[in-house]
Amino acid sequence: MTHIFANWKMYLNFSESMILANQLATESYDTEKIHLGIFPSSLAFTEVEKLYRDTEVAVGAQNVAWTPKGAYTGAVSAHMFRNAGATYALVGHSERRHVFGETNEDVKKKFDACLDAGLIPILCIGETKEDLEAGKREYRLKKQLMSVLEGVSKDATFFVAYEPVWAIGTGEACDHLQAAEIHDSIKKELNTYTVQPIPVLYGGSVNHENVVFYLPHQSIDGFLIGSASADRDHLISLLNAVVAA
Ligand code: PGA
Repeated sequence: MTHIFANWKMYLNFSESMILANQLATESYDTEKIHLGIFPSSLAFTEVEKLYRDTEVAVGAQNVAWTPKGAYTGAVSAHMFRNAGATYALVGHSERRHVFGETNEDVKKKFDACLDAGLIPILCIGETKEDLEAGKREYRLKKQLMSVLEGVSKDATFFVAYEPVWAIGTGEACDHLQAAEIHDSIKKELNTYTVQPIPVLYGGSVNHENVVFYLPHQSIDGFLIGSASADRDHLISLLNAVVAA
């Protein structure tokens, strides 16, 4: 089973989100092979969730606030998303860290809030180009895992997404052999924190052409996909490529 998680970011307005969600709802693909998750904007969330309720498609939040309720103008909490039908939430996405300045401490609070709310957090980690060039990839990934997972219950349910910052939205995907090796070391590291099998997704410039190279690797449990997921033809080609592989 391959997880295909579509992160629509801020690519689609409400009408565009609903058009794409409705188009996808009429497509048939092998649900034995693919577990599809959609992460629409907060604005489109409830309508997309309604459309996919009681189907195999999961709907998740792109971002959450950690406090359940209160005077936090502009924020939507993990608890509110759960109440509105979300199953998953992304936490620590590179754009949240690097554009909006979220720290490991912020990510930890969001991760814990998701667990508290009954959402499955998808902890996004990844090194920058500078980390890579300075030989600090392993250090960065371990630190991002440790700062969030220390103190978390060993039987907590969550995902990890390995998304090298330099590969996101650049067309420069991480080589599949290298990605598989990194996933292996992430999984080893995860054994320190959990007794559960934690799915580890790869993200960063995945498309219908390169997805097949990652598929044979046992340590890659699926994909977090940005731009290629916000377009019907690209996403359908990608789903078809996974089913055909
Ligand atoms: P991308 O984004 O597929 O557009 O590179 C991936 C992500 O940010 O999750």
